[in-house]
Amino acid sequence: MDLQFKGKVALVTGAGSQVGFGKEIALLLAKEGCDAVAVTDLNLADVEKTAEAIKKLGAKTIAVKADITNKDEVRAMVQKVIDAFGKIDILCNVAGGILHKDYVPLDQQNEEVWEKQMKLNLFGTMNVTKAVLPHMRKQKYGVIVNIGSGSTHQYAMGVGVYAMSKYALDLFTKQLAYVEGPNGIRVNCVAPGPAPTNFGAVLREGMPPLPPEQMQKMREAMLANFPLRRMGTPADIANATVFLASDVTGWVTGQIFHVSGGSVI
Ligand SMILES: NC(=O)c1ccc[n+]([C@@H]2O[C@H](COP(=O)([O-])OP(=O)(O)OC[C@H]3O[C@@H](n4cnc5c(N)ncnc54)[C@H](O)[C@@H]3O)[C@@H](O)[C@H]2O)c1
Repeated sequence: MDLQFKGKVALVTGAGSQVGFGKEIALLLAKEGCDAVAVTDLNLADVEKTAEAIKKLGAKTIAVKADITNKDEVRAMVQKVIDAFGKIDILCNVAGGILHKDYVPLDQQNEEVWEKQMKLNLFGTMNVTKAVLPHMRKQKYGVIVNIGSGSTHQYAMGVGVYAMSKYALDLFTKQLAYVEGPNGIRVNCVAPGPAPTNFGAVLREGMPPLPPEQMQKMREAMLANFPLRRMGTPADIANATVFLASDVTGWVTGQIFHVSGGSVI
């Protein structure tokens, strides 16, 4: 299938993690023929490694440091991409994560963490989108893929605020898709299930490593609820994201696409 990426310029946030979804998405966009894939992250040294890997695939690239929660850094980052490549056709909003492990009831949780969590996953994504949108409108073409989460359909003590921030992102996806459709801009969301990236680092912080048998038991218990009986991989998420970023899905907008082994049906 020709994904029609020839001549396209993409921007991927959260592309620094060397085991994360962002890098995998950026490399796949380059492999599938994008002319340029710009990458950004909080961590410059890491995102430069991703840019090196993109270059080896024959695509143009630029690595820019930006904290998505900082409007000024985001504006400057987007301007650097425009200066380098003249346009942005595809935006993959991947940067985000979970900032808390409040395995406690609401009355014992920390409000500052709630605010930080919403600021990262919802307002951070909105900041980047806000800065890119005028460039897409100008050319009457743009494709945005947000990375949501299957946690919007799972209920657990303490992960609620993360799930709420991602549910808000689902709604942002739908609202934006409705408003920007007439401007030639499509907006969709990929909602991943659990995959072994750096994502879970905060949840494991300060915990003694579990004995392998106990880890195995926990994994089996989790997978028993997954019809496809396996964890996800960054490649699973990249394949779905790149599919939605392509014109092959040119009549799809405002959708939340769960990529999670059937754990959300
Ligand atoms: N891995 C999972 O199990 C899973 C499941 C559902 C959803 N997600 C979502 O997938 C996305 C990617 O996460 P991942 O699994 O690749 O994790 P990861 O931790 O490996 O990568 C996340 C990347 O985002 C960057 N980042 C974090 N905060 C940032 C900020 N303020 N500004 C700029 N960059 C920032 C990090 O530096 C890192 O490179 C996140 O939005 C996460 O919520 C992950």
